[in-house]
Amino acid sequence: MKTPRIGSFWTAVLTLLIVYGLVKWGIPAVSREVTTLPFPLPVPGTLMFFYMMLTLIALFLMISFSDEALDDFLRPIKKLLRGGYGKAFRAAFLLAVPLLAGWQVYETIVPRAEAPVSLRIQHPSSNFPKSSEALKNPFASPTEAQVAAFIEQAKANEVTFVPQVQEDVDNWMNEADPDHVLELFASAPVKKLLAQIKAGKVEPETAKAALLEKNLFEGRALYAMNCRACHGDSTAGDGPMADGFKLRPINFTDNGTIETIVEGYTFWRVANGGPGLPVEATPWDSAMPEWKLSLTEEERWKIILAEYNLAQKTPRIPESH
Ligand code: HEC
Repeated sequence: MKTPRIGSFWTAVLTLLIVYGLVKWGIPAVSREVTTLPFPLPVPGTLMFFYMMLTLIALFLMISFSDEALDDFLRPIKKLLRGGYGKAFRAAFLLAVPLLAGWQVYETIVPRAEAPVSLRIQHPSSNFPKSSEALKNPFASPTEAQVAAFIEQAKANEVTFVPQVQEDVDNWMNEADPDHVLELFASAPVKKLLAQIKAGKVEPETAKAALLEKNLFEGRALYAMNCRACHGDSTAGDGPMADGFKLRPINFTDNGTIETIVEGYTFWRVANGGPGLPVEATPWDSAMPEWKLSLTEEERWKIILAEYNLAQKTPRIPESH
């Protein structure tokens, strides 16, 4: 058999590395091309084990094929052990191998505190008041009276915001000196409303759409001030503080979270936070604050409106509907 230039020892090492790389990164990369999903499909650990075992068996056959092949394979190893690469290198190598093995054993054996997979109930209902079940977000579908009041405010350029936002809006008004305060978030519905105000004829549907934009704007601002640190800009539970908690802040873009619960339940969870959870939501205590202590009902509803909107989810419809 023709021996490869680099010797069969390094051929074996390279082959192992290449196969590992192909399975670990190559297959997921190709899967992404094939499925066109926005994420790669991971290779299960058992499959990796399988591929590596098969590669090892093939290499073993190659190495033990003949006495020369075996000699060729063992040559660098013998050279190392006899000090052919230098005594210092040999000492370092012989020290590194047991250390590495020891570290590996330590890594697998050391007990880790991880949240139990199934014991904790994420959406407990034992102390959830039934009366909250059918609650609807009043800021998601404003009443005629609210729309009428908003039209009057908009016409007079006297639209007001929740206090946390008002100060910044005032500062912006002083700096930018716009014709109308709503220009602050001039999306299509708002532009349409401003045009209708100018023309002197405002349609209620236009005003309703613009009012919804205003509610969302306030909700997003409140979210950024209060929730972002844990739940993240993207609402994926990856805010700058998220890694600090054993029980991670919830990823709202995940299908199993706020999409599976009715709005009234979300409202109750946000109001009562971790302290309001019953025992079945333990063993890990939730760091989720009790927002009823620092935010008004209006503010909490507006945040929930923004939370669903940012995560691009819709709440579950209550069963009675
Ligand atoms: C200090 C970090 C922290 C902050 C700030 C925070 N949360 Fe949470 N939140 C958590 C953690 C941790 C959980 C997961 C444990 C739990 O379910 O209580 C959670 C869970 C939730 C849930 C439950 C979702 C589900 O499907 O079960 C909702 C809803 C929620 N948060 C909304 C909010 C809103 C709205 C704000 C801002 C007003 C906010 N959170 C601010 C840490 C935080």
